[in-house]
Amino acid sequence: MSRVLGIETSCDETGIAIVEDGVRVAVNEVASQIDVHAKYGGVVPEIASRQHTKCISQLLALALETSPGPLDAIAVTYAPGLMGSLLVGVNFAKALAYSWRLPLVPVHHLEGHIFSAFLSETPPEFPFLALIVSGGHTSLVWCDRPHHYEPLGSTRDDAVGESFDKVARLLNLPYPGGPSIQRAAENGNPSAVKFPRGLGKADSLEFSYSGLKTAVLYQLQKDEGHSVADLAASFQYAAVDLLLIKTKLAIQRTGAPRLVLAGGVAANRMLRDRLQSEAGIPVHMPSIALCMDNGAMIAAAGASRFRHGLVGDLSLTPQPSLPL
Ligand code: KG4
Ligand code: ZN
Repeated sequence: MSRVLGIETSCDETGIAIVEDGVRVAVNEVASQIDVHAKYGGVVPEIASRQHTKCISQLLALALETSPGPLDAIAVTYAPGLMGSLLVGVNFAKALAYSWRLPLVPVHHLEGHIFSAFLSETPPEFPFLALIVSGGHTSLVWCDRPHHYEPLGSTRDDAVGESFDKVARLLNLPYPGGPSIQRAAENGNPSAVKFPRGLGKADSLEFSYSGLKTAVLYQLQKDEGHSVADLAASFQYAAVDLLLIKTKLAIQRTGAPRLVLAGGVAANRMLRDRLQSEAGIPVHMPSIALCMDNGAMIAAAGASRFRHGLVGDLSLTPQPSLPL
């Protein structure tokens, strides 16, 4: 039996969790900074790192209070993310590994998101196709065996979560944009405005989301009297539609037997429902609570790395823009 502590501080959530055998969440503490950043309409890096520093020790104390037993390894997000924020988590993890004499396991944030699916009731088997959709990434990745990733395509410009956040700002909806657009869209008509699917017709697995955001801006400037609900619903439909188009193309090309959906945008109800009914293969996804950044997904990925002997050492340094 393994028990791994996972630490996540790459952006605006401080997460500390303990996962057993890579699949059971024993403790999951998350301190979100949403309220702190909301008044700026987005994450302020300097404030983010200070917030992590402020609450990380308290979160660890909380996690240890309910820890079911001794730990075997410390896993930490070391890439990619905001440099100041990553430094807080990495240095904290190094201090723990040193003083507790435990192995230090570096985890890539996107690998963490993928491993959040292993914490669901139906963990995926290898191989699988992964669709990772977050505030910073929109990627299709082929995973044929543990810790082996072949990138198939990603966004050329904005990430899909970033487009939700930017369009929410245009519509005067609160940060983070994903949940507020989903809420506003509930009472809207998704076919009120036909927005573009960037690169939707291209025979490639690349995405583009900046044109969609600009189309919403132009629509607002034309002032045709559409309600915020209609604009939110039409935007959400187009944004999700492009994910569906490219994922179906990737399934066709790879012959993938199953799909893993992960990342903050994986919390989107329409995306979850449409993939489940249209992908044509089983879809594995984390519970909504584990879609957003958290320590449990880092502990899950760390547990698997630990099992495969992929551990690091105290020379570990953050890599803010390392690809998967
Ligand atoms: O994975 P995550 O917590 O942080 C990053 O690694 O970026 O993802 C955050 C992103 C934000 O852009 C947020 O607007 C988006 O996930 N998001 C959603 C929903 N919930 C969060 N996007 C669409 N629909 C949602 N329900
Ligand atoms: Zn994330």
